[in-house]
Amino acid sequence: MHTITLIPGDGIGPEITEAAVKVIEATGVPIRWDRQIAGRAALDKYGTPLPDDTLESFRRNKVALKAPLTTPVGGGYRSVNVTLRQTFDLFANVRPALSFEGLEVPYHDVNLVTVRENTEGLYAGVEHFINAEGKPIAAESITIVTRAGCERIIDYAFRYAKQVGRKKVTVVHKANILKCTSGLFLEIGREIAERYPEIEFDDRIVDACAMQMVMNPGQFDVIVTTNLFGDILSDLASGLIGGLGLTAGANIGKEAAMFEAVHGSAPDIAGKGIANPSALIMAGVMMLEHLGEQTAARNIERAVRSVIREGTHVTPDLKPGSSCTTQEMAEAIVAKIQS
Ligand code: NAI
Repeated sequence: MHTITLIPGDGIGPEITEAAVKVIEATGVPIRWDRQIAGRAALDKYGTPLPDDTLESFRRNKVALKAPLTTPVGGGYRSVNVTLRQTFDLFANVRPALSFEGLEVPYHDVNLVTVRENTEGLYAGVEHFINAEGKPIAAESITIVTRAGCERIIDYAFRYAKQVGRKKVTVVHKANILKCTSGLFLEIGREIAERYPEIEFDDRIVDACAMQMVMNPGQFDVIVTTNLFGDILSDLASGLIGGLGLTAGANIGKEAAMFEAVHGSAPDIAGKGIANPSALIMAGVMMLEHLGEQTAARNIERAVRSVIREGTHVTPDLKPGSSCTTQEMAEAIVAKIQS
C-alpha cells in the first residue's frame, strides 16, 4: 500500500484531481490518499496558504500528488509551490514534453525533457523594494547560483539521460551577459559533461534556444537549465505539443518527491468542468514510475494517448468546439485501462 499526500489545489485543481484519482485507482495499484489542502483554499480555511498538517503529511509520506495552487500576482503571500520545493529541497524539476498523436500541432516529433534547477536562481526569493517618500522607486532581486546547486542539477540531468537511454544534454544559459551566475552554470556543465563521454553535450544561449525550440524542436533531447529559464522553456515545450493541459512535472529531492501538472489553477475556466485532466494524470504516471509501479504507469500513458489519438472524448483545449467534460475524458481513459 502506498500512502500519498494529495493536494487538490485551487481553481481547476479539485476537478482535475477527481479525474486523476479515478484514473490512477482504475489501475488497481493500492493507494491510500492522505488529503491535505494548501494555497488559496487553505488561506480561506486556516488563514495560512501552507498549513502545518500539509507539511507534516508530505514529510511523513515523502510522495505527493499536487494540483495547481493559486499564487497572487504582485503582492500577497509567497508561492506555496516555491516554498514546498525549497523546504523539501526538491532540487530537480523534470518536465517531459512528448508529442501526442491526433492533435493539430506544427510538429509531431517533439521528445524532449527539461530538467530545471528548482531551488536557486531568481526564485531564491531574495528581493526587495527601495522606497522613497513612501513608495517604491526601485526593486532589486538577487540570483543565487551555487557550485553545489549547479553540480547536483547538471549531474542529475546526465544521470537521468543515461538511465532512460537519452543521447544528448544541452546546457541552457545566458553566460554572454550574466557572466557570473550563468557563467558558473555553463562552466560546471562543461566539467560534468566530461564525466559522461557516452552522452553528447552542447550548450545554447537561452534566447536562441527558445527560437530553435520553435523552429526545430526535434534537435533537443534533455535540456538542463536554471530555475527561471527552465520555467519558461518548459511551458514553451508544452505549447509545442498541444498546450499546458498535457504536460506534467516531477519535483525530485533526495528524501521526497512531488508530482504536479505544469499548468496553473486556470481561474478563467475554473468550475466549468472543461479543464483537461491529462497533465495531472501524466503527473500520476510519473508518480507511479517513482513508486516502481511501471505496469500501471504504462497502462495509464497508453490509455491517455489512445483517447487523445481517437479525439472523440477530449476537452475543448485539444479540440475546439468539443463538449467533452473533464470527467467524461477521465472516464474514457478509465475505460481504455479496463478494456
Ligand atoms: P494557467 O496555467 O493557470 O493558465 C494559462 C492558460 O492555460 C489559461 O488560459 C488556462 O485556461 C489554460 N489552461 C491551463 N491549464 C489548463 C487545463 N488543464 N486545461 C485547459 N486549459 C488549461 O496560468 P496563469 O493563468 O498564468 O496562472 C493562474 C494561477 O495559477 C496563478 O495564481 C499562478 O500563480 C498559478 N500557477 C500555479 C502553478 C502550480 O501550482 N504549479 C503553476 C503555474 C501557475
